[in-house]
Amino acid sequence: MQTYFSTLAMSMVATLSLLFMSACHSNSNSGSSNSIKKANFGKTKAGEATEIYTLKNANGVIAKVTTYGATLVELHLPDKAGKLADVVNGFDNVAGYEGDGNQYFGCTTGRVCNRIAKGKFTLDGKEYTLATNNDPNHLHGGGDKAISKQVWKATPMTGKAAVVFTLTSPDGEEGYPGNLNMKVTYTLTDENELRISYEATTDKATPINLTNHAYFNLGGAGSGTILDHELTLNADHFTPVDDTLIPTGKINPVAGTELDFRTSHAIGERIPDKGVAKTEDCKTSTLGYDHNFVINVPSGESVALAARLKDPKSGRVMEIYTDQPAIQFYSGNFLKNQTGKGGKTYPFRGALCLETQHNPDSVNHPNFPSTILRPGETYRTTTVHRFSAE
Ligand code: BGC
Repeated sequence: MQTYFSTLAMSMVATLSLLFMSACHSNSNSGSSNSIKKANFGKTKAGEATEIYTLKNANGVIAKVTTYGATLVELHLPDKAGKLADVVNGFDNVAGYEGDGNQYFGCTTGRVCNRIAKGKFTLDGKEYTLATNNDPNHLHGGGDKAISKQVWKATPMTGKAAVVFTLTSPDGEEGYPGNLNMKVTYTLTDENELRISYEATTDKATPINLTNHAYFNLGGAGSGTILDHELTLNADHFTPVDDTLIPTGKINPVAGTELDFRTSHAIGERIPDKGVAKTEDCKTSTLGYDHNFVINVPSGESVALAARLKDPKSGRVMEIYTDQPAIQFYSGNFLKNQTGKGGKTYPFRGALCLETQHNPDSVNHPNFPSTILRPGETYRTTTVHRFSAE
């Protein structure tokens, strides 16, 4: 099926390859008024100091990132009239991130994001057991030592609005094998893109699946629900799940289901409590969407336009380009009026996540693309969020 979106995706491919190359190789932005500022973000309960870095581009777009969980804390974008608003959920300091209200807001998520069935996998003949922190499954890397809950080391880059975060997760941490060296780079470009690049190496074979868990509300974080946001997903297929959100192993077409976002739909339009019957195998609960989609990658290419999100009121648009095979669309089903930055509250479905990644529980599904990183290999992936207004 040739949709507007797939045509657009294909015409973007050449540009994209260049864009990704420049993300990897260019180190200069001379002539622009990019800047980086560093501030204190408070001490963790364990007494560790954390920092927050402000990245600003030539157009006045601002992203703030903290060493706690290598987390995106703020993202200020212009609407169609040029008015800035912060469009991501977050907290004013590290204490907020360590509190009960934090549902992985903006963090670097892993070592393996999403779920691993019953916290178990076998690799090279050895069985590994992980925390079952989302009963009965493992979610987003586990407990207190998950990488989203650790303080990373930050190194600002010179000549561009970019910060590199590094962390080593020791062999056996949260049950995962291998000393894993990770590097996450946030870059804010003058093209109003936020690029997030990941790199990792290991000394023992280990599963890895890193993503960013930003919660977006393009009308402004804390400004209401995202039910009116219009979403397009470049995905012909999704991975059906059981009642505990573990993939059954099937890869089903979205055609004819409420998961067909190949043309733009308002998010609230087809959630079952909005009067639309749920389709067998999609299991869209009355809570909303929490599904993993297989991204269509044009043949011969490694990068695709995965998603386009528009807030019709403010006109803000986000496009997500990635080299990852899948994307989790989560409609903020478990948000419950947490108080976040500046006293704003985040209601049920008050923000959504579009997390680029490998399919959930890939380590237990040989028919899904592999998530195993071996010694001598380098894990490398980039996701670009491109913002505009119309
Ligand atoms: C998952 C949800 C989960 C949420 C936690 C999302 O990535 O898909 O099931 O509740 O993260 O914040």
